[in-house]
Amino acid sequence: MLIAQLSDPHVTTGPLATEPVAGLHRALGRVLALRPRPDCVVITGDLVDQGRPDEYAALREVIGRFPLPVHLAAGHHDDRESLLDAFGGTPWLGGGFSAYYHVDHPNATVVVLDSLAPGSDGGGRLGEEQLGWLDGVLAGRSEAPAVVCLHHPPAAVGIPLADAIGLADGEALAEVIGRHPHVVRVVAGHLHRPVTMGFAGTVLTVAPSTWKQSTLTMSADDQLGWVAEPTGFLLHLLDQGGCVTHLVQVSHAAGLTVGY
Ligand SMILES: [Fe+2]
Repeated sequence: MLIAQLSDPHVTTGPLATEPVAGLHRALGRVLALRPRPDCVVITGDLVDQGRPDEYAALREVIGRFPLPVHLAAGHHDDRESLLDAFGGTPWLGGGFSAYYHVDHPNATVVVLDSLAPGSDGGGRLGEEQLGWLDGVLAGRSEAPAVVCLHHPPAAVGIPLADAIGLADGEALAEVIGRHPHVVRVVAGHLHRPVTMGFAGTVLTVAPSTWKQSTLTMSADDQLGWVAEPTGFLLHLLDQGGCVTHLVQVSHAAGLTVGY
């Protein structure tokens, strides 16, 4: 089972549309060129930049003809209503009308959480109801490895300005995850740079952006900014109960991409 995790494409429309749309399209082309082909793609939030319906229409143009299953997660730049209007009832949201859902692949369960907290300053929250739902989903299929996907990293990563807009109920999520040892990965975005850490007895990976990367700003009195590091995505290989994660760089790499 191969899962490609893309993040933070920030698709938009208008004069600034070119770069983020091209970044996502190129990353998906790189996914298609992998052998073996991944079984699915998950995009861990900030699908679009402003949460506008026309941006979701643009996203649909990019992923609509993509031949592999794509699972969408909401980020703090997304708008839940516009996302559900555009993708509710489609395979891109697991066939349902909720931004949190699960997809039972033959060899793994992909669980997508909705950490979007409207009105916050960019931070996220899951809430008790969703955490209870997650607990039930994980308990219901303990024989298959599970990958839990959300936008906000649920623990501090040592980048103070980003940690300040993290997940408010990360500890509660850790309690749920800790009860289910078949969770082989918790995967997040939000940071626009790759990070790996232990979390709740499993491994948390944060994917880089398919658009642009942020600075490694580990001092609270320094600014966060953008830096011309490579775009990329993570490739999670689930095999024999374990999981190995590879970083696949896209923009600066000589790797093959294919059209679709
Ligand atoms: Fe983002």
